[in-house]
Amino acid sequence: MSSSVIAIDGPVASGKSTAARLLATRLNIPYINTGSMYRAIGWKVSRLGLNMEDEAALQKMLEKTEILYTAPAPGENPDIRIDGVFPGQALRALDIANLASKVAMIPFVRAYTLDIQRKTAQSQLVVMEGRDIGTVIFPDAKYKFFITASPRVRAMRRLAQAGETADNATVESVAADIAARDKQDSTRATAPLKQAEDAVLIDTSDLTIDEVIDAMITVIRAKDSAEQ
Ligand code: DC
Repeated sequence: MSSSVIAIDGPVASGKSTAARLLATRLNIPYINTGSMYRAIGWKVSRLGLNMEDEAALQKMLEKTEILYTAPAPGENPDIRIDGVFPGQALRALDIANLASKVAMIPFVRAYTLDIQRKTAQSQLVVMEGRDIGTVIFPDAKYKFFITASPRVRAMRRLAQAGETADNATVESVAADIAARDKQDSTRATAPLKQAEDAVLIDTSDLTIDEVIDAMITVIRAKDSAEQ
């Protein structure tokens, strides 16, 4: 039997988080944003001033780390707590995004988050969004999507999100940051970003968010009726 998961993967600023959140709201099911878990770990590394090269210290830190992810009510933001603390918007900062991408390369970090993610989705249908949901976390997810957009559209979207880029950022500098993070995410040895063979590809460059959600719902309904 397949897992009760709508897996949504894709690169930085492809529109996948917005699509995942709104799809979950439309279907009235929980939304799980796995990037926030890597961001929370990156945030703790930064607070403690740990050296990213010191894997022994990172492992020790992780053994004493408790992440609690509460799926948000429809339309609300996810509530992620690390050791009881709610970092909130601090997780969206550019330096934390870059640290998240770095910690996400480390196999023992991924083993830790895999465990949380598999436990978070157990019985009820959920939307889970990240980089490796359809390939590694739930390779047997009932529905899988891979969301992309052109580099320019992605840079413009990221630039429009307050607090997520440097003050003097331009479309070109943001596009370069995005390309660097994509490269790091898709060339790492463990669970790299890639489209699952059975995922449906949606390029959101020329679509409104409502068109993206409609396209996903059409795929979900088609699959449901094929199974009946
Ligand atoms: O989706 P995001 O930008 O919040 O993710 C932050 C970083 O976390 C991203 O650069 C790669 C990493 N990540 C990952 O490796 N696997 C996931 N399932 C989700 C995020």
